[in-house]
Amino acid sequence: MGLLTGKTALITGAARGIGKAIAIKFASEGANIAFTDLVIDENGKATEAEISALGVKCKGYASNAADFAESEEVVKQVKEEFGSIDVLVNNAGITKDGLMLRMTEAQWDAVIGVNLKSAFNFIHACIPVMMRQRSGSIINMASVVGVHGNAGQANYAASKAGMIALAKSVAQEMGPKGLRANAIAPGFIDTAMTQQLSDEIRKEWASKIPLRRGGTTEDIANTALYLASDLSSYVSGQVIQVDGGMNM
Ligand SMILES: NC(=O)c1ccc[n+]([C@@H]2O[C@H](COP(=O)([O-])OP(=O)(O)OC[C@H]3O[C@@H](n4cnc5c(N)ncnc54)[C@H](O)[C@@H]3O)[C@@H](O)[C@H]2O)c1
Repeated sequence: MGLLTGKTALITGAARGIGKAIAIKFASEGANIAFTDLVIDENGKATEAEISALGVKCKGYASNAADFAESEEVVKQVKEEFGSIDVLVNNAGITKDGLMLRMTEAQWDAVIGVNLKSAFNFIHACIPVMMRQRSGSIINMASVVGVHGNAGQANYAASKAGMIALAKSVAQEMGPKGLRANAIAPGFIDTAMTQQLSDEIRKEWASKIPLRRGGTTEDIANTALYLASDLSSYVSGQVIQVDGGMNM
């Protein structure tokens, strides 16, 4: 019996990277997996097959998490096809970095839309389902920069700080209905997102990490498993920094 046997987890932006690692981890603990991504192409189909091979139900939904109506529709379909939604992971995210002075409105709007509004969209659609179940765990994938800020990432840091405050607010509103909401703040995790960064920035980050290594997607998936499962049944409204000790 796995930690999530019989539960359904909905994970946004999970065709690759951290989201995919979380989906695989949850599936290996018995959860059925509904995941979204902008498109479900060959890569998304391969993720679907890899998870189904673990003996659980899995389906990928093509949807733009920043779009309110599309997100509502996905949640409706997942509820119909899976029967319940026990865990929601708001993981879809993008960066469009630039110094504040040069940041365009388009860079600001895109990052706030995909990172923060998407979390609103999915939480808003999922909480009626979770309230009826009188249980649910919501996990927002924030970032250490949402706690500490970061020069050159004002849009991204603000979106992640927003996701943290959103999780805390939902934890307060929904606790009496049996729902929990928390945030994970990863540090430097080796994925396509961080592979875009220059060697210089990567070296600078590594020198600030007491454990002297970047994190793996598995490091984040393990924390997500803790927050999704009953192992954390008395933990709500928290931000867990998973960053090798970079920020204390
Ligand atoms: N990699 C890191 O170091 C790091 C650190 C802190 C936080 N994070 C956060 O973790 C999450 C996952 O990041 P990752 O490193 O795996 O990135 P990634 O780029 O590998 O994966 C992000 C996924 O989100 C999807 N996506 C993008 N826009 C979307 C949209 N509008 N609708 C639906 N899906 C969309 C992408 O297609 C991709 O599959 C993000 O929220 C990111 O901000 C990552």
